[in-house]
Amino acid sequence: MSFSLRPAILALCVALAPYAAGAAPGENDMGIAQSLAEMLRDARTVISDKQDLINDQQLGDKHLTGEVVLEQAVAKYEKDTGVDPKKLDPASRQGRLLRAMMAAIVEVVDDNQPTINEKGTGFKGFIPAVFARMVAESFDHLAKGEAEIKVTAPLELVRNRKARPDPWEIQVIEKRLLDRAWPRGQPFSAEVETNGRPAFRVAVPEYYVESCLVCHGSPKGEMDITGYPKEGGKLNDLGAVISITLYH
Ligand code: HEC
Repeated sequence: MSFSLRPAILALCVALAPYAAGAAPGENDMGIAQSLAEMLRDARTVISDKQDLINDQQLGDKHLTGEVVLEQAVAKYEKDTGVDPKKLDPASRQGRLLRAMMAAIVEVVDDNQPTINEKGTGFKGFIPAVFARMVAESFDHLAKGEAEIKVTAPLELVRNRKARPDPWEIQVIEKRLLDRAWPRGQPFSAEVETNGRPAFRVAVPEYYVESCLVCHGSPKGEMDITGYPKEGGKLNDLGAVISITLYH
């Protein structure tokens, strides 16, 4: 691993230069970023709660459509935030981006109906992490360069190359989120030039809970049900980072 870390560290130094550049954040940028993370998380929780249903090999049609998943995600969102996301002004930046997130959720679940409804297959690999990655990709497409979201993790934990942290994320994870003194759950945000554009970036930390450790826990190196070697993660370790970029 150490040989591949070297370029990452070099890239990190390059990334430090424009760190302070960029315009002042929009008034509600932090709120927008957090609402996008919240919606993605809520939908991911729905997919997590439905794992037994999804992996039922007797049942064909599960009636778990994009609309059904979105409805349950919206209910969770409203419960947690006290805001009905469907009532946000579609002309506002938050309304527009949150709608793109909701559309992404529907798109991914609908596109995966053949997988979800496949009879005769138990474990289908349609797990929360895979779902979240696909929603993030779809959101990036629908947000048309105005915003991006990604679920990443500390570099040594990353399974899918597409989820690898970029130099800014690596630096935030190592210097802030993994710092013992960092308040648990507190997001880190900064104005950072990204892809040559001024942007407001937020990294939201998430920690392993018991259910994650079936796949990400011990013994380290042993294959999990998805065919990846377990990472040896422990309860409450930093296991995920939701990274949101809002371009100015
Ligand atoms: C059934 C096994 C399983 C469980 C349970 C599980 N994961 Fe994963 N996780 C995976 C797989 C497989 C991937 C790779 C997904 C992909 O291909 O994008 C992954 C990817 C991730 C990623 C994206 C970064 C990467 O490594 O590609 C994060 C972050 C993550 N998991 C965190 C968690 C957390 C936090 C939990 C508990 C809430 C959890 N996982 C539960 C199997 C699991």
